[in-house]
Amino acid sequence: MTEQSPALDNLLTESRTFPPSDEFAAKANATAELYADADADREAFWAKQAERLHWDTPWTSVLDWSDAPFAKWFVGGKLNVAYNCVDRHVEEGHGDQVAMHWVGEPGDTRDITYAELRGEVCRAANALASLGVGAHDRVAIQLPMIPEAIVAMLACARIGALHSVVFGGFSPAALRSRVDDAEAKVVITSDGQYRRGKAVPMKAGVDDALAGAESVEKVVVVRRAGDDLDGEVAWTDGRDVWWHDLVDAQPDDHTAEAFDSEHPLYILYTSGTTGKPKGILHTSGGYLTQAAYTHRVVFDHKPGEDVYWCTADIGWVTGHSYIVYGPLANRATQVVYEGTPNTPHEGRHWEIVQNYGVSIYYTAPTLIRTFMKWGADIPGKYDLSSLRVLGSVGEPINPEAWMWYREHIGGDRCPVVDTWWQTETGAIMISPLPGVTHAKPGSAQRPLPGISAKVVDNDGTEVPAKGGGYLVLDKPWPSMLRGIWGDDERYRDTYWSRFAEQGFYFAGDGAKYDADGDIWLLGRVDDVMNVSGHRISTTEVESALVSHPTVAEAAVVGATDATTGQGIVAFVILRGGAAEGGEGSAGGEEAIQALRAHVAKEIGPIAKPRQIMVVAELPKTRSGKIMRRLLRDVAENREVGDVTTLADSSVMDLISKGMKSGS
Ligand code: WT7
Repeated sequence: MTEQSPALDNLLTESRTFPPSDEFAAKANATAELYADADADREAFWAKQAERLHWDTPWTSVLDWSDAPFAKWFVGGKLNVAYNCVDRHVEEGHGDQVAMHWVGEPGDTRDITYAELRGEVCRAANALASLGVGAHDRVAIQLPMIPEAIVAMLACARIGALHSVVFGGFSPAALRSRVDDAEAKVVITSDGQYRRGKAVPMKAGVDDALAGAESVEKVVVVRRAGDDLDGEVAWTDGRDVWWHDLVDAQPDDHTAEAFDSEHPLYILYTSGTTGKPKGILHTSGGYLTQAAYTHRVVFDHKPGEDVYWCTADIGWVTGHSYIVYGPLANRATQVVYEGTPNTPHEGRHWEIVQNYGVSIYYTAPTLIRTFMKWGADIPGKYDLSSLRVLGSVGEPINPEAWMWYREHIGGDRCPVVDTWWQTETGAIMISPLPGVTHAKPGSAQRPLPGISAKVVDNDGTEVPAKGGGYLVLDKPWPSMLRGIWGDDERYRDTYWSRFAEQGFYFAGDGAKYDADGDIWLLGRVDDVMNVSGHRISTTEVESALVSHPTVAEAAVVGATDATTGQGIVAFVILRGGAAEGGEGSAGGEEAIQALRAHVAKEIGPIAKPRQIMVVAELPKTRSGKIMRRLLRDVAENREVGDVTTLADSSVMDLISKGMKSGS
């Protein structure tokens, strides 16, 4: 089955367990009975979770799966997502509770209460409506981590428009393809953003992206960096409008209309196995139900008591479900931080935890490993005693990082929850429950109550204890994607064709059961890389490389990387027989730097290959398929595996020799 790296093999010899303390368990939101409740009657269980939201019209049935794989949850129900995340709390007397402790990278801060957030969201909703944005329209958002980003998302939700948030680090070309695919009517961005202590432009890239973009009528610009930016912000009259001119003038009252439970909420693009990103579509009632439920039970969140902090960016699904929708539906008080973790110093996160008394902290393994590299003495300088739950997401967490996290951040007292899910699943699917589970370092362990997942072999048969195979989701769940924007065919094909007979959702991950039946995630089994918890497809990077005039052919693999999980390694054949390697030749250092910069320009800096190797040939099967497995062996300095299916078996010798001589 899946090709496993040695690091992942080590992971499976892990045998320590960490039960919750009696004190934690006694007060936890989730108890062991939850599993039994859900097993007894799944739909009744989910109905109970949905009842925690405010519905203007009750649903008539919990699930309609008759048009599988297109699910309908809470059929006939009506609700307004923004009302549930904001107004409801104000009406229930919590208007003065801080919704957001926002911390800007340069050190500026804003505390925003639920009452203030309501005013802002209403104004922004009125503003969008005044631009002609209505239900079902699409609004693209490319913003730094500033309060307006969250306000803009909620304003869209409030009027039934779909947001499509594009990560701030994505290139103009990547933004453009997303704007075009969704035919966005309005784009919301900022003049600039603070990154590593510097103000850098943002609007300029958006202008590049939108040249000739037919669907875009208005660009709303938040003033964030202002005079710290060099030079004026270019302006397209008639199209561009400042957020403060537009939004501040609006009334802070807006009546939230209730929309159907299946009303589309957002599109979020993610990498697939082909070059073209997929617009993952999420809808309202089921999505909000599962985002809120999981936030409540997995983080043991208690409104009015906890201070919650998820370090993700709203450009990723983690930001959507665990900064915006889940926490706000649960009336969280949360920290939102704009910047990088080492600006102005490597203790920035711990200083924030100390200052705001953060009690729940949710981050990614790549950052935990970075903190490890910086040293335990850094968090050691701060008072982290407010912390009580730690979460991890985005890639398998190695036991060493898990233990370090528990010990040096969690003071050996906080449960660590390793949460497995995807953009497509919308919310957490597999995770320990902090007051219940005896946690194992490196394992996401069990599907949450209400969720069903299995590890199966090639034929879709569940593997026995200690067996490995593919992770599938064998029952529909409320926050599941409702399709790929504009491409039903691709939706069926990508997720439902692999195990069509059984009707399983194929997640694209390899997994194993241990002797207790707990699940260990082993990484992707398709051509998707996971770099610092971000999904990047090999084909996307290959397309970017071959779009450069010097490149004839390219093959990209994800190689194990101690910090980022995987690193991107590219093998390229240059055009016109340009020589391999060698100072000053076409394959020299300069050319390689130019190619790295080109990929950053085409996709974004996160997709920049860690290493580019110029080669004369690529290993291909007789049918012409590139054998990435062999390239991965080279990139990970392993003995090259079976080459018998290669059209020309000498190719690998050449490549390996090239590696050793360091070209
Ligand atoms: C892929 C989904 C879910 C939000 C962040 C990433 C990997 C995610 C874990 C975990 C092992 C994980 C999987 C998955 N992944 N969480 N706890 N353990 N692997 O969302 O960009 O949609 O990526 O991330 O490979 O398929 P995404």
